[in-house]
Amino acid sequence: MESSTFILFGATGDLAKRKIFPALYNLFIDGKLSGPLSVIGLGRREWSNATFQSQVLDSLRTFSRRAPEDSPELRRFLLAFEYSVLDVGHPEDYKKLLAHVIRREQELGLPQNRMFYLSVGPEFFAPIAANIQGSGLGDTLGWKRLIIEKPFGRDLQSARELNDSLGAAFREEEIFRIDHFLGKPMVQNLEVLKTSNPVLRALWQNRYIANVQITAAETVGVEERAGYYDQSGALRDMFQNHMLQLLMMMAMQLPQGSTPEEVRRKKRHVIASVLPLLREELARHVVRGQYAAGEIKGKPVPGYTSEPGIPAASQNETYIAARLFIDDPLWEGVPFYIRTGKRLKEKSTRIVIEFKEPLNDVHNKNRTVLEPNLLVINIGPEEGLSLQLNTKDPRRHGALEPVSIRHDSGNPGMPEAYENLIGDALRGDATFFAHWDEVELSWQWVQPIIDAVDAGELPLHDYAAGSHGPAAADALLGEAHWWLDEEPAPPAAAKDPEAIRQGA
Ligand code: BG6
Repeated sequence: MESSTFILFGATGDLAKRKIFPALYNLFIDGKLSGPLSVIGLGRREWSNATFQSQVLDSLRTFSRRAPEDSPELRRFLLAFEYSVLDVGHPEDYKKLLAHVIRREQELGLPQNRMFYLSVGPEFFAPIAANIQGSGLGDTLGWKRLIIEKPFGRDLQSARELNDSLGAAFREEEIFRIDHFLGKPMVQNLEVLKTSNPVLRALWQNRYIANVQITAAETVGVEERAGYYDQSGALRDMFQNHMLQLLMMMAMQLPQGSTPEEVRRKKRHVIASVLPLLREELARHVVRGQYAAGEIKGKPVPGYTSEPGIPAASQNETYIAARLFIDDPLWEGVPFYIRTGKRLKEKSTRIVIEFKEPLNDVHNKNRTVLEPNLLVINIGPEEGLSLQLNTKDPRRHGALEPVSIRHDSGNPGMPEAYENLIGDALRGDATFFAHWDEVELSWQWVQPIIDAVDAGELPLHDYAAGSHGPAAADALLGEAHWWLDEEPAPPAAAKDPEAIRQGA
């Protein structure tokens, strides 16, 4: 990795504090950054370098997976952070920034490699890129790169406009669009699992797979993000980006040791092959839901429309599930069920692969119906794998019993998603970023859903907070069902054995 200057827009913000500073610190401690380190933080507040450095230290104390220890190394890390006041709309501030960057490059003997990280609202992406270009900050003798956060547009057209405006200042190879799900260790592991295990490689196709279920369930509600979330909903906040990226990562087939370019081609192939939904049949394939009042871990919580800042008449979805098919010989006929929602029973991001069981065929009337084999890839909060197999239980006259072979990779020393991603971007490796073609094709697939919602054509189902989502989402699966949903708590009356005995 060549050393560079890390220029952080939005350095006084929440993401910087929670994720970016801790990620840089852990990369630094692990010796994964080539020195000397230089970070220039930008914001509108009038901070001195010392104030900025103490904010960075606070962030490490609160959010770093490894607590900062008072040491010369920590002091060296903090001194690498300098601050410049910048109003994103003032071109003269970029000139001052350029002078600052050059001064630091000269002081530290750094090559002119510049990483621009936009940890700011999406409305600032285009003006910042234009000013980087206009001020000369982008005219480097080394490389320049841009890291941007989601959301990348609100629909197909706005995403295209945004991409065009970034394209005026950065080439596609220079743009690193963060989708933090791609930084999760288990997602990064998916390809290795497939390519390095002949058993899995052989099974990864429609001949053996009955269906694939991708879930990202959360227990939190809208939190303090009413303004953003009520305009985005589960479709834009999670589905168009994280969920479709998981689908691409799961379904692509790659030879071992593929280059980032091949990964990109294969992902593009998957998303381009997802069969488009016709507007008139959308309601059969897509279920939207909104949480009503309920209980999370035994505590009552309000419904979505009673949350602070959410209009009482909001029709925004907090849950979405969809069934989709991939038009590819390897995946033909395999339904992919995808769902995500807030205020659900448990926090769990996972992929469950249900394998076919030909012996359960209706013609085999005399045979015991077998539990299907399941491969479960737990992405978070716990990471691991499990495989469900059928075995014989000698205590029960040899009756079949499904057992689960588990590997929990729960390791507190595991790098965080942001560490992986920032490290990759600094190395120039775009494997685990969302490339433009994927983003555009994802919006293209989602656009009919947006149109149908805007036209009031897709019903919004209620679900109780603390449940597994609307019943309509179960119906999407037909004869199959969602695997591994934690059983909902039995109704209060049924919990009391006395009440049951008395027939209450
Ligand atoms: C973010 C969404 O991108 O992902 C949030 O904006 C969501 O609404 C979060 O809560 C989930 O991420 P994780 O890593 O906690 O599963």
